[in-house]
Amino acid sequence: MAERVEVGKFVIRTLREPELPALEWEGVYTQYRRVYRQTYEDAVRGQRIMLVAVSGLRLVGQVFIQLSSTETRYADGYSRGYLYSLRVRPELQGQGLGTRLLSTAEATLRARGYTTAVIAAGKDNPGAYRLYERLGYRSFADDPGVWYFQDVNGAQQTIEEPCWVMEKSLVPPDDDDFPDDDDD
Ligand SMILES: CC(C)(COP(=O)(O)OP(=O)(O)OC[C@H]1O[C@@H](n2cnc3c(N)ncnc32)[C@H](O)[C@@H]1OP(=O)(O)O)[C@@H](O)C(=O)NCCC(=O)NCCS
Repeated sequence: MAERVEVGKFVIRTLREPELPALEWEGVYTQYRRVYRQTYEDAVRGQRIMLVAVSGLRLVGQVFIQLSSTETRYADGYSRGYLYSLRVRPELQGQGLGTRLLSTAEATLRARGYTTAVIAAGKDNPGAYRLYERLGYRSFADDPGVWYFQDVNGAQQTIEEPCWVMEKSLVPPDDDDFPDDDDD
């Protein structure tokens, strides 16, 4: 099934509840503890999907999927799904794991009948933009990228990450679009 994929020594699969602390990467992302808990609860309700890449017992990468949103250009609950929070451990970057996380997320959406994947590339992150373009995403909007979250101490924090919003069709091109032997 789309939600468990073996990639060399890595496995990509959905996150299990006891692994929530491991998303903090030994302190690097501790401020998002409440966000991860909330995301997990949304996942239990079927509103989000949390995919992680695991090597042995270690979480080495992740991508989350938001299935529905009031911002329907991102996710509408049936045809458009939003991929976000993509990251790979720095020492493992550049080996294709980010690409495999994205293709697994796309397959997960496709298996649910979604026809479009949406992703945002920070305007200060041209590397991510290039990667998404290479994987078939095209920019269709930009967004000031303002969002709020409660940090680990319960204080409200504001993030501003202006981004390009990109989309990719998950529908394979129709065979009839290509000439075949009978057409000549
Ligand atoms: C973006 C990211 C998940 C890609 O993971 P990865 O396993 O290195 O991806 P792949 O090996 O499949 O592809 C590598 C490509 O990622 C691109 N890339 C994007 N952001 C990058 C970054 N911060 N550092 C290095 N490469 C990056 C590069 O263009 C590279 O392409 P290249 O081979 O033509 O140079 C990873 O670089 C990462 O975790 N970056 C920090 C978090 C981040 O920027 N997330 C995206 C938010 S918009």
